[in-house]
Amino acid sequence: MLAKTSEIPEGGGLVLADQGVVITQPKPGMFNAFSSSCTHAGCPVDNVSDGTINCNCHGSKFSIEDGSPVSGPAQTPLPEKPLIVAGSKISLG
Ligand code: FES
Repeated sequence: MLAKTSEIPEGGGLVLADQGVVITQPKPGMFNAFSSSCTHAGCPVDNVSDGTINCNCHGSKFSIEDGSPVSGPAQTPLPEKPLIVAGSKISLG
């Protein structure tokens, strides 16, 4: 198990640095997971706030809905990872 659903804020997300994954919940009950390696130069992303996944290395921001870059130097989306949500438990698919 990666996380419990209750650990992922609605409209936000959680960076699991050890697993290299960021899990987001853009809408209630809808969970997404992405690689936490920034597609600009490979820094690990730092946090999730105001609807974006943020890399502090050079300021790239990615959408919590689909991982697409919304500002900063990154040009490609964070790769999505398959998730399995079973009850309150979130695992990689
Ligand atoms: S490595 Fe993330 S913005 Fe440059």
